[in-house]
Amino acid sequence: MWTVLLLLLASWQAFAQVPLPQPPFLPQNASDGASPSSAGIPNSQWSSLLGNLLYFYEAQRSGKLPSTNRVKWRNDSALTDGQDVKLDLTGGYYDAGDYIKCTFPLSATVMSICWGATDFGKGYDLANQTPYLDDMLRWSLDWLIKAHAANNTLYVQIANEDLDNAYWGGDRDIPLPRPSYQINDTSPGTDAAAGAAAAFAACSNLYSNRVFSNSYSGPATLQNATYAATLLEHAQQLFTFATSASGGQKVYQDSVPEVAAYNSSGYGDELAIAALFLSWATNSSSLYQEAQGYWQQYSLSSYEGVFNWDTKTPGLPVLFAQIAQANPSFGGNASTWQTVAENYFDRIVYGDGPGYQTHGGLLYYGGDSDEASLNPALNAAMLLTRYVPLASTQSRRNDYLNYAKAQVNYALGNNPMQAPYIVGANPNSPQNPHSAMASGGSNISDINTSPPQEAYILYGAVVGGPDKYDRFFDIRGDWPETEVALDYNAPMLTLAAMHVLNDTADPFYTSLKAGAYDSNKPQGMPCDAAYTEGCGGPQLSQGGQIALGVIPGATGFAIVCLLGWWGMLSLKREHDLLY
Ligand SMILES: *[C@@H]1O[C@H](CO)[C@@H](O)[C@H](O)[C@H]1NC(C)=O
Ligand SMILES: *[C@@H]1O[C@H](CO)[C@@H](O)[C@H](O)[C@H]1NC(C)=O
Repeated sequence: MWTVLLLLLASWQAFAQVPLPQPPFLPQNASDGASPSSAGIPNSQWSSLLGNLLYFYEAQRSGKLPSTNRVKWRNDSALTDGQDVKLDLTGGYYDAGDYIKCTFPLSATVMSICWGATDFGKGYDLANQTPYLDDMLRWSLDWLIKAHAANNTLYVQIANEDLDNAYWGGDRDIPLPRPSYQINDTSPGTDAAAGAAAAFAACSNLYSNRVFSNSYSGPATLQNATYAATLLEHAQQLFTFATSASGGQKVYQDSVPEVAAYNSSGYGDELAIAALFLSWATNSSSLYQEAQGYWQQYSLSSYEGVFNWDTKTPGLPVLFAQIAQANPSFGGNASTWQTVAENYFDRIVYGDGPGYQTHGGLLYYGGDSDEASLNPALNAAMLLTRYVPLASTQSRRNDYLNYAKAQVNYALGNNPMQAPYIVGANPNSPQNPHSAMASGGSNISDINTSPPQEAYILYGAVVGGPDKYDRFFDIRGDWPETEVALDYNAPMLTLAAMHVLNDTADPFYTSLKAGAYDSNKPQGMPCDAAYTEGCGGPQLSQGGQIALGVIPGATGFAIVCLLGWWGMLSLKREHDLLY
């Protein structure tokens, strides 16, 4: 059995089909992110950023690493995954700063990246990153194929949050056992099955070179009809599993409570988006109609919150409109979907939705943004950017694009901390991402200072992000701000690909002076789900207070903080209830 497994592993790298560049692309030193590049398209700083964002995924790989592995400090790991169920479930990606493999958020990540590489794919080509895109997608999809072990069986998680959260250390001593959790015909998970179907279908479209319309650049050049057909087959099987399991339709945590860290809030959105990507992949107007049916049935039009790994709803009107425009024979009404999309986007851009802008300009949703604040903002920017070619008026085209660019600029350093929130991009980038493997530490009770400096630079990782006062503490144990995750990078990839295509100007961070973050860095501790030490009120450095403009209105600010503190406590209670 071992020989078979080894042979299988040895042939692994043969799956990467677009030849990788020789010499390989490697991230530049952070200091190079402080020097302006010569303007032009492609802008070499944007190209490097796109490369780094993909490189992050390589650092997150699980399993036997191929000889082409560029992340020299990573080792083969978790080579027994799946043995408990007599399957090979090695490979895939670690989800975040720990060593769990999670199918539901991985599927959302892959779907997002394939959709983005369909719209703005020539950005990957221009940046010479298409081989790495192909490599990254295949490392994901080939694992999802293994996880889809039978028509109505999908492994949704490897390893267990309780066991894994008790471990902080390198990739050679990951604790065992690492149980494999599945959904199946009698214990289904409609969201997880449909979410994986959506990922397979979106990527099948990419690998079959389907073009939405000439408003977009078109797909990255990695077409492969054989692979596209394989992906489509998995998408169709998983969609059938989602819609007709004999155990009925339910959220996957009802079947597998161990996925609690990634509980799903519902499955109507996954059913709709899977049906949509499948309608396009198979030229099926009935699947398009089915997707419209889910939109109605699950009252998705009433949703006004964030787009993320769990909730795809805000992306649906955009995709409905894109497909209606690309394929009028489906009977979709592009202008109706435009109206729906613009109702949602207008409220973000013109400021009367549930999201608001922080002082520093970050789109912020109380609750969702209290952990990983950049994710809702970057996902909104990603959807807005994609929607721009479809917008009904010139003023919306301008406003949406400018709004999206401002969110990207914020993430790349145009913020009160003067910190680009991408590891290794610039000297002001975070130094302490919450990542067990990159930290070099092995003492879970002393994550922050053991070792004093993080052992490895986790190039290209988008960190969680600042708090609602635009404060970023850069503390390794502060997972709401400093953790990294597969889904955090996903929208930034699509945005960076778009900037490679269209932007002659450098990413914002090339203008940041060395030491800028250090002079703005807040003192004290944060007030969030990881730390309550900072909950007594704001403790900003003088520079940070000036940047925020809080010195004149300090009293009002303190009141806002107290309210925030109160909100935090109630959130914490909810969190405790969940576990
Ligand atoms: C297309 O993908 C398949 C499946 O991964 C692979 O076997 C084949 O070599 C690829 N073809 C080309 C031309 O890259
Ligand atoms: C990989 O192994 C090397 C040496 O065997 C070790 O120094 C390094 O820290 C390991 N990497 C991780 C992420 O644990």
